Amino acid sequence: MAEHPAYPVGLRLTGRRVVVLGGGQVAQRRLPALIAAGAAVHLVSPEVTASVEAMADAGEITWHQRPYEDGDLADAWYALIATGDTEANARASAEAERRRVWCVRSDDADEATAWTPATGHSEGVTVAVLTTDARGRDPRHTAAIRDAVVEGLRDGTLVAPHHRTRTPGVALVGGGPGDPDLITVRGRRLLAEADVVIADRLGPRDLLAELPPHVEVIDAAKIPYGRFMAQEAINNALIEHAKQGKSVVRLKGGDPYVFGRGMEELQALAEVGIPCTVVPGISSSISVPSAAGIPVTHRGVAHEFTVVSGHVAPDDERSLVDWPSLARLTGTLVILMGVDKIGKIAETLVAHGKPADTPVALVQEGTTAAQRRVDATLATVAETVRTEDVKPPAVIVIGEVVKVGPTAAAPRE
Ligand SMILES: C[S@@+](CC[C@H](N)C(=O)[O-])C[C@H]1O[C@@H](n2cnc3c(N)ncnc32)[C@H](O)[C@@H]1O
Repeated sequence: MAEHPAYPVGLRLTGRRVVVLGGGQVAQRRLPALIAAGAAVHLVSPEVTASVEAMADAGEITWHQRPYEDGDLADAWYALIATGDTEANARASAEAERRRVWCVRSDDADEATAWTPATGHSEGVTVAVLTTDARGRDPRHTAAIRDAVVEGLRDGTLVAPHHRTRTPGVALVGGGPGDPDLITVRGRRLLAEADVVIADRLGPRDLLAELPPHVEVIDAAKIPYGRFMAQEAINNALIEHAKQGKSVVRLKGGDPYVFGRGMEELQALAEVGIPCTVVPGISSSISVPSAAGIPVTHRGVAHEFTVVSGHVAPDDERSLVDWPSLARLTGTLVILMGVDKIGKIAETLVAHGKPADTPVALVQEGTTAAQRRVDATLATVAETVRTEDVKPPAVIVIGEVVKVGPTAAAPRE
């Protein structure tokens, strides 16, 4: 019989009976997709793996704890035959043929009436890859093609603009701390689809170089603001470009809502009726310490961490921070925008009871090639910042967690 290519189709299995024969690794791998498709899965097998048993215990599948029997495929729409017994598999596949139930076989693709493609998902799309005929089947090759396509869509190297569901208006995208690999999949996709990108100095600036030439990249710090405040000028630029029907990405460092003025931008857009999508980002407050080997919490050391802006000094009347209370906390303090005021901050914490020998680490330009870490104590940090010439952007970590990692440096006395 001449070999014809398989006919690709998507099965809509919600509420439909699917029979799985066998409870080993093959079933374990296939079950999550069947459950996600809403199938009424009946699994027949005397034994199952621990993961399959957990799915049965959770009520996600019905497990019939016995070997396959003729008649098991009655009323099934689809069957997966994957027992370790070739003779039972052959009998089951004969039953499937008799009952006209499409079936896949783990042990013999030639005898199967259906094949499982290598599948992956990216933003509402399922990528399914099948080889053309049974003889040419090469599961590793199809899986590699699937990975290349899904990965390309995720990281934006394979650009497939959304025509019907293109995100309208402005996307406020948290770009993470700087390393281009630390932006979210969604953020990267939106960036790949943008017509205009308004970017901060902080964040994954390397990604801007990868954008196609038609994309207009605007440095937020360079938007002229004349009679407006800088932030107002940025809001106006967002509004102007969005009103022209362009897909606008506002690329911000870290997370848009952590000292990022993200809500101000969203409010300005809402006032003029422009839709805004917010994509969370990995905040420098956690990721920069982590990149320097500092966990913001550690069992038995810190049960809390507090993220504080240090952009105004503790004695500044504009400060909203209760420094005396922070001095009493036993957990970790993470200070952003605090390099300039760290002397005053350390002094205030010590004056309100924090031990002067509390460890401090300053991590400058975290997650980038220029990352560096300088260690001190509350007593020495002001001097250390001067002698070591620590410059913003830096995250300052205060607390015993600074000392727990294997990369902890000895503090400067
Ligand atoms: C205006 S705040 C924005 C914070 C950002 N939204 C976030 O979630 O990370 C800027 C401050 O974040 C910190 N920061 C951001 N990226 C950093 C990095 N790669 N290395 C060190 N500090 C960073 C610095 O304290 C900097 O002054």
